Amino acid sequence: MAKYYITTPIYYPSGNWHIGHCYTTVICDCLARFHKMKGDEVFFLTGTDEHGQKVEKEAKKHGVTPREFVDPLVAELKDMWNLLDVRYDRFLRTTDEDHVRCVQTIYQKLFESGDIYKAEYSGYYCTPCEAFWTESQLKDGKCPDCGREVSLQKEESYFFRLSKYADRLLKLYEDNPDFLQPKSRVNEMVNNFLKAGLSDLCVSRTTVKWGVPLPFDPKHTAYVWVDALSNYISALGYGTGEDDLFKKFWPADLHLVGKEIVRFHAIVWPAILMALGLPLPKQVYGHGWLLIGGDKLSKSKEEAAKTQITDPYELTKAFGTDAVRYFLLREIPFGSDGEYTTERLVGRINADLANDLGNLVSRTQAMILQNFGSVPPRGKEEGPDVGLISACNSLFERVDADMGALNAPEALEEIFSVVARANKYIDETMPWALAKDPERRERLAAVLYNLAEAVRICAVLLKPFLPKSAEAILRSFSSEEAGIEAARFGLLKAGTPVEKLPPLFPRIDKKTLDALLAAHAKSAPVPQKTAEVPEKKPEISFDDFTKLELRVGEVIACEKVAKSEKLLHETVKIGAETRSVVSGIAKFYTPEEMVGKKVVVVTNLKPVKLCGVLSEGMILCAEDGDGRLSLVSPERLVADGATVR
Ligand code: MSP
Repeated sequence: MAKYYITTPIYYPSGNWHIGHCYTTVICDCLARFHKMKGDEVFFLTGTDEHGQKVEKEAKKHGVTPREFVDPLVAELKDMWNLLDVRYDRFLRTTDEDHVRCVQTIYQKLFESGDIYKAEYSGYYCTPCEAFWTESQLKDGKCPDCGREVSLQKEESYFFRLSKYADRLLKLYEDNPDFLQPKSRVNEMVNNFLKAGLSDLCVSRTTVKWGVPLPFDPKHTAYVWVDALSNYISALGYGTGEDDLFKKFWPADLHLVGKEIVRFHAIVWPAILMALGLPLPKQVYGHGWLLIGGDKLSKSKEEAAKTQITDPYELTKAFGTDAVRYFLLREIPFGSDGEYTTERLVGRINADLANDLGNLVSRTQAMILQNFGSVPPRGKEEGPDVGLISACNSLFERVDADMGALNAPEALEEIFSVVARANKYIDETMPWALAKDPERRERLAAVLYNLAEAVRICAVLLKPFLPKSAEAILRSFSSEEAGIEAARFGLLKAGTPVEKLPPLFPRIDKKTLDALLAAHAKSAPVPQKTAEVPEKKPEISFDDFTKLELRVGEVIACEKVAKSEKLLHETVKIGAETRSVVSGIAKFYTPEEMVGKKVVVVTNLKPVKLCGVLSEGMILCAEDGDGRLSLVSPERLVADGATVR
């Protein structure tokens, strides 16, 4: 039995998850599922990269400890993988006790072998990338990777003798051209880094407390990238005393990573492994990015966030898990960047999933049920049958070759070529005409049997890509959970019950899409134009300020105010009392969204009637340069009724 060890990068707990983040992990999940289906023993690893300056700073900004900051984000990320049907074998957190032990073992070994030494670091640091740069590497004084500000660091540090491994790394690339893929990334590593000369790498910080303390000098914490990269072996128990998994699965078959972090995986990580005397992973693959308007997709892109749905929760809610997975696995030529738009996603759903696959399944099932009630017997092969049957029988081999090259888009293209072939077969054999002729009943049976088999075999091979839908199709043909051996024509038995499925992928028409996008634009939490500086108001005394009574309330009911486009009528619970409040926020919040929100209310304003509805207070909102309103809410959980001052 072959073994297959595949990893995603471990994710920064940023909370701003978007569909670009799902790309690496959904591909890994698909590859892992495919190998499991082939009978390989698979270990699929993912997790979170929780230490370092970035998290330390964010936590401070939110007034919580780093641990309090990361815990809910890790839970959110796990939810996201669950939502996308990602089935990993381990979710590693760099705060896990066994990982911390492993990182300490690695540092201790490198220290003892002389690969780590103490000196003074003086250079630049990019916190968002957690990367050290020399002055000459900066681009216009900014981080060459992300273009953001860097800060000057000067501190006592430990260094890893990266320079010592430059020649061995160059040789690795010469002798083993498949180690890093695609080829373009090799040129980048060799020309931009290896040939330009490697300096030793700073691998400890004294100014960052949120990290793994070095065993031989605990006032230093491990550099977050060394900490993070170690996850690929700590997850298997390396350096912890319980290393059965390590013995079984290391070296990894594949580290799949985004192209911006190839440098760490293709230079720093192999050098560390060389220093530890461990085998190198068989392959590092640096995939491309999902882009919006030509830029790497990120939630902070104001325009994109308004016009495009990028949130995985929103997307799976609107289109379903399999549709989102399908887009990620099919749309972007593997290794390249690809543009993301909601329209493109919907285009794929309508063309490939609703039209081609959905129609094939529903037409086949409907005709079988109408004419035979269950799977009809297989008949003699005639004319167009031969092509369809051989396309079905060779499908696994073709998909296997594509998946071996990690090429999920091509594999899907192969499967959908059989879907297209089967749809064409319906046109060629015209079963509806056969059904009208009692003498041709045997031929009708043969045609429908062949179609049922084509559908079943496509479903077997679609399982790693569209797990929910493929399994639903298989179940509807009373097919048990099956491995790759089920992708052979002729296994379906005559008389097998067939259950009619509801449409797997309903078509999304333009009106529905426009409505979805409009609802999204209204609710998108987008950074807006900064408001103009308002005209200055006269100074007030503290006494004037204390005349205002501000309290926290919870909206317990909300409805639109009849005859008004702007007004919502909220019932707000403020401690022991409830108040009726009218506010002009209907353009920005729906009544459903308002219920449950914690708001700040001015409670001693003179009551008024607005459009005939009593308002006993005012809910506070922030207004940006576009006139968009956003509720002001307490940043942490507080009981309703709390005073605001
Ligand atoms: N924590 C590091 C990895 C350490 S691995 C030892 C990190 N984390 S990340 O959260 O920023 O990125 C996780 C993955 O998401 C990376 O593979 C990254 O390339 C991927 N993506 C994030 N945005 C992306 C797109 N817009 N498109 C495709 N993938 C991108 O880096």
